[in-house]
Amino acid sequence: MDKDLFNRIYEKPDQAPWTDASIYEEFKELFVSKKVLPCPTLEVGCGEGYYSIYLASQGFRVTAIDWSINAIKNAQKNAKKASVSVDFFVGPWQIIEQIEDCFDFVFDWRFLHDLLDEQERKKYIEKISEKVKPGGYYLSFSFSDKTTTSNETGKIRLTSVGNRCYFASQKEFEELMSPFKIISKKEIIIPREKDRESIYNLFLMRK
Ligand SMILES: C[S@@+](CC[C@H](N)C(=O)[O-])C[C@H]1O[C@@H](n2cnc3c(N)ncnc32)[C@H](O)[C@@H]1O
Repeated sequence: MDKDLFNRIYEKPDQAPWTDASIYEEFKELFVSKKVLPCPTLEVGCGEGYYSIYLASQGFRVTAIDWSINAIKNAQKNAKKASVSVDFFVGPWQIIEQIEDCFDFVFDWRFLHDLLDEQERKKYIEKISEKVKPGGYYLSFSFSDKTTTSNETGKIRLTSVGNRCYFASQKEFEELMSPFKIISKKEIIIPREKDRESIYNLFLMRK
């Protein structure tokens, strides 16, 4: 999907179909269990910022980027409301190269399936691995090819929002994540309208 479409979707706060201020249990569990302790953290494709804000409220120092200016404006307001501080940046994911820091924890939540080009996906993971400190964690959550969609099959499919997303198998994900050691992998099922459901690959990795 292009940046302008995202900007239109984010014109009004909390209207994006994926925005949800309540944080998924599978995400929270990592921190409640103390598997990942408060540390310098990077989120890519943060949207309206709720996941970064949750971590900031748990004592994490968070940098978050998104290429949609409207998403970041909403995220800044949300952070203010929650009385937490997050370093938000507007730009394409490639701006992570300009951020000097490396991080103990990097994550993307419903972002990776927006990268449709195989070469770009590989490049992205390569760059993410440069941003994770040795011993640090990378968490990624994106569409599985097991998601039921109405009209299309294959890896790249039209979604209800009118954009195309990349639906990856677990095996493909494992190959893509080769710079990392996979700690855990799960399929998360999220019911949608009628008999359809979205299925996501959730991978926790370590460098
Ligand atoms: C499906 S949304 C998920 C947002 C957020 N993580 C959430 O779960 O609510 C994907 C986000 O990635 C951003 N995005 C998509 N492609 C991008 C790119 N090439 N560079 C930076 N951000 C991008 C979009 O603007 C959007 O906010």
